[in-house]
Amino acid sequence: MLQLDRVEKTYTYKGQQIFALRQVTLQLDHGNFVAVCGPSGCGKSTMLFAAGGLLRPDDGIVRIDETNLYVISADQRAQYRAIEIGFVFQQFHLVPYLNVLDNVLAASLALEGINRQMKVNLRDRALELIERFGLADRLSHVPSKLSTGERQRTALARALLNHPRLLLADEPTGNLDDENTEVVCQHLAEYADNGGMVLLATHDQRVASYADNIVQMSDGTIFADI
Ligand SMILES: Nc1ncnc2c1ncn2[C@@H]1O[C@H](COP(=O)(O)OP(=O)(O)OP(=O)(O)O)[C@@H](O)[C@H]1O
Ligand SMILES: [Mg+2]
Repeated sequence: MLQLDRVEKTYTYKGQQIFALRQVTLQLDHGNFVAVCGPSGCGKSTMLFAAGGLLRPDDGIVRIDETNLYVISADQRAQYRAIEIGFVFQQFHLVPYLNVLDNVLAASLALEGINRQMKVNLRDRALELIERFGLADRLSHVPSKLSTGERQRTALARALLNHPRLLLADEPTGNLDDENTEVVCQHLAEYADNGGMVLLATHDQRVASYADNIVQMSDGTIFADI
């Protein structure tokens, strides 16, 4: 279960305070696919960063199953993230000098104690995801030689590689055509059906319609849970 309990985050920039998250409380069970919708700047990415162990809230608790994410050490959190959390960033964050296959496999680099058989399995899974997302003929392309949608799908394959218990996807379909949007949304829904937790941020109501629950966000506050 992912639990956000009264999570607060205020950014201070050039002397101005921006209340990005105000007492955000949210719960996701295994098997749940939740979409967070809301206008630009309402705090969606900030909430995903906090949920993913990437941004310490000023107040409140973030818990994934029995792990209290901001109580454990930074090293423990980094290792936990590598194993249990998949993150599709709004800006992808692919490694510019690695090709598609190696970018996907990069998700396994932080894992400790990988033996040869596990390496073979990871490679097979990477190839399966790449095929599934229509990138099989782009294996050796580096990100600068990919379209934006292809980069986005590479980032999603990377996030799914380790079968994370929590997948956080920030506008994962923002640059995709209808066909690829459907492929990605169906995959996320299936991922949740198989026991994963999926929390997705989107502006797109069509994408949100694949989720079990839609959470509306405005100005740092969750104001409706449909
Ligand atoms: N590092 C930062 N420093 C200062 N302010 C920030 C920072 N990051 C985000 N903000 C501000 O916090 C608010 C929430 O930003 P956030 O990126 O979470 O919004 P969002 O809902 O993801 O928007 P979008 O739909 O455009 O991606 C915005 O007003 C933004 O300007
Ligand atoms: Mg955002």
